[in-house]
Amino acid sequence: MKKILDLISEEVMAAFGAAGFDKNAGKVTVSNRPDLCEYQCNGAMALAKQLHTAPINVANAVAEKLADSKVLKDVVAVMPGFINMNINEEFLSDYVAKMAEEDKFGMELPQSKKIVIDYGGPNVAKALHVGHLRPAIIGESIKRILRYVGHDVTGDVHMGDWGTPMGLVMTEIQCRQPDLPYFDDNFKGEYPKEAPFTVRDLEEIYPTASAKSKEDPEYKARALEATYKLQTGVPGYRALWNHIMDASVTDMKRIYETLHVDFDLWNGESTVQYLIPEMVQEMKDGGYAYESDGALVVDVKEETDTKEVPPCIILKSDGASLYNTTDLATIKERVMKFDPKQIIYITDKRQDLYFLQVFRAAKKTKLVGDDVVLSHIGFGTMNGKDGKPFKTRDGGVMRLESLIGDIQDEMLKKITDNKDIDPEEAKKTSKIVGLSALLYGDLSNQAVKDYIFDIDRFTSFEGNTGPYILYTIVRIKSIIEKYKAQGGNLDNAKLGAPRNVSMKDLMKALTGFSQMMEAAANELAPHKICAFIYDLANALNSFYHETKILAEEDEKAKSEYIALINLTKNVLETCIDLLGFEAPERM
Ligand code: ARG
Repeated sequence: MKKILDLISEEVMAAFGAAGFDKNAGKVTVSNRPDLCEYQCNGAMALAKQLHTAPINVANAVAEKLADSKVLKDVVAVMPGFINMNINEEFLSDYVAKMAEEDKFGMELPQSKKIVIDYGGPNVAKALHVGHLRPAIIGESIKRILRYVGHDVTGDVHMGDWGTPMGLVMTEIQCRQPDLPYFDDNFKGEYPKEAPFTVRDLEEIYPTASAKSKEDPEYKARALEATYKLQTGVPGYRALWNHIMDASVTDMKRIYETLHVDFDLWNGESTVQYLIPEMVQEMKDGGYAYESDGALVVDVKEETDTKEVPPCIILKSDGASLYNTTDLATIKERVMKFDPKQIIYITDKRQDLYFLQVFRAAKKTKLVGDDVVLSHIGFGTMNGKDGKPFKTRDGGVMRLESLIGDIQDEMLKKITDNKDIDPEEAKKTSKIVGLSALLYGDLSNQAVKDYIFDIDRFTSFEGNTGPYILYTIVRIKSIIEKYKAQGGNLDNAKLGAPRNVSMKDLMKALTGFSQMMEAAANELAPHKICAFIYDLANALNSFYHETKILAEEDEKAKSEYIALINLTKNVLETCIDLLGFEAPERM
């Protein structure tokens, strides 16, 4: 199905043509003065300038041609030359009825392409903290949006699992349990199956080790040595690393699951180490990488740069690889395995320059073809009410699990405050609604912007919040249940022409779906979905307040109302699924 604005534009363009003007002036937009009209066309203005005539003459001639339109009504030319118009009710309801019948509400899908999305980016052996919320949920939503519009998307968590933090943890374990076989270079037996620590231990081991290494140079040297042993494949270190990975990954999966975040690949920096020597050699052979102060670098600055873009360091002077070396090798591997047309990275926007360097280096050294799109979505910071990066009450870094727990507790309070409800059900519901509060609170902001984590506002049932959207869906579900209980049959409920203004407004809101989805997918912008469903939920609630639905005596009218709210529910549910949450049955 064509987008509604395209259909309306076609109609107006034809009228420009019929009046003897250039058709291209006929583009229509949603009115920015809804008090005056629903849609508008401003094309007469520029055209009149070219033709050296008054815009109102052009507008009048076009409006005249639209007098008998089946698509539009009330078409009027107003000074100095705007064309204002409303949509024809029959046309609108036919369009909405077709949306209800078609797959994906009639959205025309783009050509499918292979996309890899790199998001989450947790570091192994450290507990997930609030800083890991945004890359996980923004990435998950973008992945779902791209899949919905038909792309073949692979999500990779890309863990930090190969650097000094691993050496630090191993060093601290050695301090505590020096007799473990992992540290005995002469050990020839089989290493234990059980890890010599729990995940909870790990969460405490890393910060302890990190603090010690800052105070004690000797400790730091040992940690670097341990990192080196791991990276060069010393068996005991490899075996211990496997334990750390297992424990850490299991725990991460559990927490990501509570956020509805799900990765296809659990790869990390370690995954592509094998490719680095080969890649470095190719970069040298191709003449792209050269030595500078002992390090191996690739220049990535361009003449048009307005700020300095330093060279990409591939190997340090001691031959060690860096964060970007791994990212480049990962690009090489993704090209080999998936041949993607686009790779998308979701990280903090402080990595903007870094990714600019990596992308340029990847293109320049021909790791990827020029046709492959490399995109970086840099997100802003989640701040506390003081406007500073979000912290715990005592100023520490908050664990992601605690954050999720806090918002669910707050939700539970609000849910049980309102009415007496079975405690078990209240708990279950508060988890579902709490997640909506958290995800919507984040995703409703344009990703690049900082935002304030405001638990009171996010968990409110009113305003632009997740719970408000869920409340609207639950309201519709309950009306439909009652309709069925009255003997109504949902399958026979068919849409009809709008019977009042708020019904027409709700229909118009629904028609924006495919336009919005197209923009959300092209611009990798989940916040567009939030803006759309907020408007849609408002339109639904206005309709609900102005229309007696279940008390309607005319059965035909009643079934038309039901068909309309049912479609609204389906669109809302599709949209929240793309954001990563769902609606409860009751709340
Ligand atoms: N582990 C990194 C960090 O904590 C994020 C990884 C982002 N992804 C990437 N391909 N570099 O900053």
